Amino acid sequence: MRRIFVGDFKIGEEEKRAVNEVLDSGRISEGAKVREFEKTFAEYVGTEYAVAVSSGTAALMAGMAAIIHHEGINVKHGTKVITTPLTYIATSNALVTTGFDPVYVDVDPETFLITPQSIKEHLERVDDIDRYSFILPVHLMGYPCDMDEINKIAERYGLVTFEDSAQAHGTVYKGKKTGSLSLLSIFSFYIAHNIQAGEMGIVVTNDAKIARLIKKIKAHGRMCDCPICQRSQGKCPRLKNYKGEEDFDPRFAHELIGYNFKAMEFQAALAITQMKKADWIAERRRENVKYLNEGLKGFSDVLQLPKFMDTVSYLAYPIVIKDPQRFSRKKLRQELEERGIETRPLFGCIPTQQPAYSHLKKEYEGKLPNADYLGKNGFYIGCHQYLEEEDLAYIVRTFKEVIDKAAG
Ligand SMILES: Cc1ncc(COP(=O)(O)O)c(C=O)c1O
Repeated sequence: MRRIFVGDFKIGEEEKRAVNEVLDSGRISEGAKVREFEKTFAEYVGTEYAVAVSSGTAALMAGMAAIIHHEGINVKHGTKVITTPLTYIATSNALVTTGFDPVYVDVDPETFLITPQSIKEHLERVDDIDRYSFILPVHLMGYPCDMDEINKIAERYGLVTFEDSAQAHGTVYKGKKTGSLSLLSIFSFYIAHNIQAGEMGIVVTNDAKIARLIKKIKAHGRMCDCPICQRSQGKCPRLKNYKGEEDFDPRFAHELIGYNFKAMEFQAALAITQMKKADWIAERRRENVKYLNEGLKGFSDVLQLPKFMDTVSYLAYPIVIKDPQRFSRKKLRQELEERGIETRPLFGCIPTQQPAYSHLKKEYEGKLPNADYLGKNGFYIGCHQYLEEEDLAYIVRTFKEVIDKAAG
């Protein structure tokens, strides 16, 4: 049976060579490859700085810790953060585990994104605005949030914006890449994403202080923040500047409480190979979305197909069931899976549908109708760069077979 995966990763000659180069170099922990990848990625997104970490979740947590420690930014531990209820759970988990209080506002039914309108309406209603510190929009499925409007609202209320761009490598919003539209942003290179390294994440920013703080936080807050350690050449700026103990080692002197979020050379080496294909990957995915939209448009009475935008780098092909009484997501996913087409639910509405957040269920019941609906009735299939025309034709044929069967 033909298999249509949600995502795919091909290990070709280039990928093998990249990993072997790391092995031959004798250094597998963070070093020159990670530095090269950071430079490449910052150029790609269009930011001054990029700091690689072990995962997208780690990038969120390190980014949040950095803005708490940044004296020039008014973000305090324990404050409220406006974010989306419809996302992979990492966004909310990072907030909660870093000591923030997520506040969810509803999403747009077609793009799945939090809207300036819902953020604005929420902020106009609250009587504790001084307890809010930042807005964390997520560019879900590759769709870009309306960052100009979100930034304007943030500015009006004295808040910071922090994009979760984990699913949107290469998406362009008003001529700029997502990830370059706020104070700081993160990406994930998890295997299911458009640029893949197995696991790894990155924080991008134009703020030198944030970049420096993240370098420290990802290594347990140690003093070192040089791009490459120069101790072996007898040059260590931290040693020179240190005014305290005579006998101290900056690698083991910690000025902040942090984490071990360092990346590995293998991950960076693989990600560099994928960056060379980044534009091709985004383009292929767009072409596949276009093909599937054309092939499936006859089912638009029962299925909401993804909005096509030629500036979006699609994570996957999201579909929403229009009339769940007539045609359930469970049944459709089951029929597709039986025919070799992998599916995934559209993450679920965090405060009302995720068991880990059941303590918030009562508070949000009925308040997030779009996220609730999409969380229950949305799902996605693959539109990745390795799908061939026969795979796409198979998807269209299979939907026809399954929907005809359900109708008949
Ligand atoms: C929107 C979003 N944010 C954050 C993450 C976390 O990334 P990672 O899995 O690399 O920790 C993901 C991962 O899928 C994601 O989709």
